[in-house]
Amino acid sequence: MLFTQDQSPEKIWKAVLHELNLGWFDTSHPFRFVNLGTQSEHGPEVRTVILREFEKVLDLYVFTDFRSDKVRELRANPSTTLHFYHPEKRVQIRVKAKAEIHHQDLVSDAFWGRVLGDSRLAYNSVLAPGTEIPNPEEAFNWAEEIDDSSFSVLRFIPLSFEVLQLNGLKHLKILFTKKDGKWKGQWLVP
Ligand SMILES: Cc1cc2nc3c(=O)[nH]c(=O)nc-3n(C[C@H](O)[C@H](O)[C@H](O)COP(=O)(O)O)c2cc1C
Repeated sequence: MLFTQDQSPEKIWKAVLHELNLGWFDTSHPFRFVNLGTQSEHGPEVRTVILREFEKVLDLYVFTDFRSDKVRELRANPSTTLHFYHPEKRVQIRVKAKAEIHHQDLVSDAFWGRVLGDSRLAYNSVLAPGTEIPNPEEAFNWAEEIDDSSFSVLRFIPLSFEVLQLNGLKHLKILFTKKDGKWKGQWLVP
């Protein structure tokens, strides 16, 4: 369990933030893997991405190829939901957020410095993500000059954190939203 019904919303909030911090810090933590939901012209889309940073101001960061569908979808509609699940603690967190796309700017420059060695290839395929190919080998062609021209950083500015603690028959749900500059918790029927 991450929290119990006896704890105050303030204490639960601290535990939630601590656990999300572990998600980007500890590579074996389940919150490292985030399900990112977007709206496409064909309906909802969801995919797994890696949480790269969770800032003190609570913004969350993800790296992606600027040519990917998710970038196109977020440009059309920046409203997103990020979904986390911790199987051992049996906790789900849903973060409603507004996405910002950083490409060839100060934010993406700063993060590009952290992408080292062969990891840079992930953002340097000759063909754009999603391109139809006759066989899988076609995807394994990388630009001769490895650069950050297709690297982008998604920044998610959170609007709310809904936290569900599974607990036998007595599940607990609490919604954190910002009021007057402070994050406040509100218990909900799960
Ligand atoms: C464990 C795991 C981690 C992934 N991490 C990322 C990531 O950090 N960034 C990313 O763009 N895609 C990542 N992917 C691939 C995406 O799930 C997705 O297939 C790809 O980005 C294309 O998505 P799109 O067509 O919706 O843009 C990951 C996939 C898995 C299974």
